[in-house]
Parts: sequence; C-alpha cells; structure tokens
Amino acid sequence: MKKDCFYKLDLVRKKPLQKILLQYERTAFVDFAPHYNYYQKMVQLYYHDNNDTEDNFTDDHNSGVPVSFEEIEELGVIYKHVTSQEELDALAKEREYKNRDKIHLNLETFKNDVDAYNAKMKQFYTEHYHEDEEIRYIVDGEGFFDVRNKGDKWIRAKLSKNDLLILPEGIYHRFTLTNSREVTAIRLFKDEPKWEAINRVH
Ligand SMILES: [Fe+2]
Repeated sequence: MKKDCFYKLDLVRKKPLQKILLQYERTAFVDFAPHYNYYQKMVQLYYHDNNDTEDNFTDDHNSGVPVSFEEIEELGVIYKHVTSQEELDALAKEREYKNRDKIHLNLETFKNDVDAYNAKMKQFYTEHYHEDEEIRYIVDGEGFFDVRNKGDKWIRAKLSKNDLLILPEGIYHRFTLTNSREVTAIRLFKDEPKWEAINRVH
C-alpha cells in the first residue's frame, strides 16, 4: 500500500486509534508502526497519584490508571491534536477566539535563578477556575494540566508539542511545567484576555 494510502487510512481510523494509543507508551509505536509517527507526541491522560506537594508538583505523578477521552469530554474538556498554523487558525475561527498570545517559560525566563523558577511553580500549585474557557496550545516543550473530575479527583493531562486543550469555564484546574522545564504555548481568547483566576478556598 502506498504511504499516502496509509495516511488516508489513519484519518479514517483516527478516533478509535486515539483511544487505543492512550494505553501505550509513545515509544512502543515508533518501533513497529513507523507510519504512525504522527501520534508519537500525543497527550497522555491519567489519574494523578495524589502524592504531590508544592516541591514535587512538576514530577509526573502518574498513578498508572489511564483516563479516556470520553471521561474528559464528560467534563466539557476538549482535546485536539493540531499540527499546523492553518489548523489552529481554523479552530480559532470556528470557536470565535479573536485574540491570542504566546508564552515561553524556562529557566532562562527567570535569569537561571532556580529559586525564582521554583517560586513560580509553587504559585502554579494553587487550583483555580476562570469565568471563561481556558485554551492552551503547546508549540514546543511540555506542560501539565490538572483538572478536577466530578468526584473531585485530579485528572492529569501531560501535553507536548501540537497538543491543544480547552477547559470549560468554572472547572477547577492548575497548570505547570514538567521537569524538562521548557514550554512554549499559545493562549487563545474569545475576546479581550480575561484571566482572573478564582482560587479555591479549602
Ligand atoms: Fe487557569
């Protein structure tokens, strides 16, 4: 079969494949299905192990229990794998996101001051919600989004390049970098940026 035939087949099978691929480590596919390289960097969704503190928040905290796309969709969370600027622009138009900005965070952002970097990560530890959707598209690097499910358990999304996540208004969440300490992300806004975070009171 020609390579372009594989590609078309992939598009048809994309949805069921997404469910299956979540059960595997990304690297497993590189070995036996090179034409599925498209999926290598896809999001990982799993239940948080709840062993986090402010100081180890950026570790993976993977409980080993995967989360399906259906589970996050029930919460109103939307995941998309976006591989081109055109695709991102089309999505922005479709959902009426008129504004965007780009953020780049790494150690250099904090002038290589590890204490300042860690202080920022601790700030990210506080869960909050917004009165608008929160949309984050990972251009490069990695980041975690934690979202609360209806039973108040943390679901963690480990996002890599080309992953886009839309959180509905009112959902408690938090974002942080992974231990790779590097992320470039685009934030999309419906109108003027309205980023007031309403922190959770325990
Ligand atoms: Fe937020």
